[in-house]
Amino acid sequence: MSEIIPGLEGIVVSETRLSRVDGEAGRLTIGGFPIEELAPRAAYEEVLFLLCHDRLPSQAELAALRSDLRQRRVVPPVAIAAVQEAAERKLHPMDALRMGASLVSLNDSAPRDESRGANLSRGLSLVAAFPTLVATYWRALQGEQAVAPNPELDHAANYLYMLTGEAADAAAVRALETYLNTVIDHGLNASTFAARVIVSTRSDLTSAIVGAIGALKGPLHGGAPGPALDMVFEIQARSLRNTTDIKSEARAWAEQAIGRGDRLMGFGHRVYKVRDPRADVLNRAAADLFKNRDDRAIYEDARTVETEVLAALERAKPGRRIQTNVEFYTALVLHGIGLDTELFSPTFAIGRAGGWMAHVLEQIDEDRLIRPRAAYIGDFDREWVAMEGR
Ligand code: ACO
Repeated sequence: MSEIIPGLEGIVVSETRLSRVDGEAGRLTIGGFPIEELAPRAAYEEVLFLLCHDRLPSQAELAALRSDLRQRRVVPPVAIAAVQEAAERKLHPMDALRMGASLVSLNDSAPRDESRGANLSRGLSLVAAFPTLVATYWRALQGEQAVAPNPELDHAANYLYMLTGEAADAAAVRALETYLNTVIDHGLNASTFAARVIVSTRSDLTSAIVGAIGALKGPLHGGAPGPALDMVFEIQARSLRNTTDIKSEARAWAEQAIGRGDRLMGFGHRVYKVRDPRADVLNRAAADLFKNRDDRAIYEDARTVETEVLAALERAKPGRRIQTNVEFYTALVLHGIGLDTELFSPTFAIGRAGGWMAHVLEQIDEDRLIRPRAAYIGDFDREWVAMEGR
């Protein structure tokens, strides 16, 4: 029998030009750029272009991509109706996004065209549609009318505008842009792998991206930042109630949670055995965002919680090398921008959509069915027993 590698840990199944995750050195490279270099400077559309074309766009190319994405923000009415109904039924935001995303292909003018150009166009339609779907769902959940996309605004700014109906300030837009760039791609993470598996059967790009949304929803992948922030809020509340300092409350909370066998959200990673470099990029973005703000206590308290949780994990699980992951600082950045915790996972999807589409295009070029095997541990040679004899 062949060796079993549970969770496919450490298995390399394809080549990619899109990103490299070095889990021992704590380095992330996106399209050739260190994440620290790219994420805080680029516009989301520039990184999207980089992933699709393996180079940065010229000014004219960037303007053309932005204009193209703007045209694609208007989704079929049935997709709007689906996310609004999902909100009425209080469904999970990622379920709403999954439903809406699958209906975007009704706008496809050449649904049977499998050329690279047609797939690129399909991918861009999904990237452009995600903010519309999420914002429409969110406003319906609040009992508010949908806000039409703003053709004056670029991708990140338009998302914030569609959520609130007001133009966001420059600091919030920059922080969101940095966040979307930071999470746009990350090797063969579970959702990207799911997308590649689907399209490796020569299925279509939309099916692959809809499948990826489902994979991202889980709390071990894209569902972690909401609970990570709730943890900080709970520790703050306890410290207020018990008139203790955050540090000792965080230590006690972490020890109890680990003692119960809980997973602490925002910590640990399958590949990174040192600090996730995305956590540092987002820490800097959060520090900039909260600088001089009245509510900066949440940022300071979160840093104290992080230190205490890491220390508690090291005491309880020595040698496991559990470090802060991207989700911990995602929570702070997205909270600082003013997003509710319910929006954290779908906002991750808005960023990751660019990576998903680029990986799907790469997989289509590779054209190799992904099909691992399982070791059978059931019985053999059972004899059929007719119903009356069971
Ligand atoms: N809290 C408590 N213990 C942890 C944590 C954590 N966050 N992460 C790992 N461990 C422990 C496990 O309990 C296990 O302990 P044991 O050896 O005593 O049984 C040990 O560390 C190894 O854990 P594994 O499950 O083998 O590690 P794996 O590589 O499968 O886990 C994962 C990676 C799923 C991300 C894990 O660290 C986790 O559950 N973290 C919390 C959820 C989270 O933050 N997810 C976001 C990840 S980033 C992203 O997807 C964008």
